Amino acid sequence: MDKMLGGVTGKVAIVTGATRGIGQAIAQAYAAAGIKVAVVSRSAVDCEQAARSINETGGAAMAAHCDVTQVAAFRKVVEQVVEYWGRLDIMVNNAGTAITRKAIDLSEEEWDRVVDLDLKSVFFCAQSAARVMIPQQSGKIINVASILGLVGANGLIPYCAAKGGVVNLSRALASEWARYGIQVNSLCPGYVITDINRDKLSDEKTQAALLTKTPAGRLGQVGDMTGAALFLASPASDYMTGQCLTVDGGWTAI
Ligand SMILES: NC(=O)c1ccc[n+]([C@@H]2O[C@H](COP(=O)([O-])OP(=O)(O)OC[C@H]3O[C@@H](n4cnc5c(N)ncnc54)[C@H](OP(=O)(O)O)[C@@H]3O)[C@@H](O)[C@H]2O)c1
Repeated sequence: MDKMLGGVTGKVAIVTGATRGIGQAIAQAYAAAGIKVAVVSRSAVDCEQAARSINETGGAAMAAHCDVTQVAAFRKVVEQVVEYWGRLDIMVNNAGTAITRKAIDLSEEEWDRVVDLDLKSVFFCAQSAARVMIPQQSGKIINVASILGLVGANGLIPYCAAKGGVVNLSRALASEWARYGIQVNSLCPGYVITDINRDKLSDEKTQAALLTKTPAGRLGQVGDMTGAALFLASPASDYMTGQCLTVDGGWTAI
């Protein structure tokens, strides 16, 4: 069992988008498992607060605010983390955004905003992390995609395109970096009410429609994602790479 989930103690992780929602739950779960966590989002205040709350509950966290779409800025975050903790073992590319708009009305700026964060930044953050992990000959890269990277949805065109891209990007990077002992997998959450979708999912009709397609009979909660994120960060998943782990209450099963 020690080789399994217990094998994460003392590892160093960066979690992007870790000040709210799924990313915050993952950062907290990692810290509770003994992983040192760098908390990243654009807000310095929110990063400080999220890191403080982990440190106050016995974990080890540092705040590193950064817009992850800025490649050079994220490279500095990686440098900061390596300077502080000496290594980087786990990179969770979780920060994401969505814009709801009919395809016919979508602007170029909206397309770029979603794809820059949800796909392009995932690659460049993974690249920055791998530049540390390759010399270490070990690392875990976990890219948070979505069930909407596996199926399409009306009104979420760039989101679906980017998340589908993340699933296949993870496979391609897995293939290229396996020889360095780096595993790259994607995590595909189902519907979880967070700031990204609260307006839409608070509507009872929308929720009821989603529930008819969810065998588990409820929407997800941020805590539902932490087991899979911990597994993908741990030695228990050492022989798993290029895969997509779906956590959706059975939504894509039917
Ligand atoms: N919620 C769902 O139902 C669901 C389902 C499937 C997949 N997902 C995916 O799960 C991930 C997390 O989603 P969530 O629902 O937890 O979202 P959320 O509650 O809206 O949180 C998003 C996080 O990302 C940060 N962020 C946004 N833009 C950023 C940027 N440019 N640079 C750095 N940080 C940035 C936000 O902080 P700041 O705004 O302060 O920067 C925040 O911490 C996303 O990739 C999302 O697509 C969510």
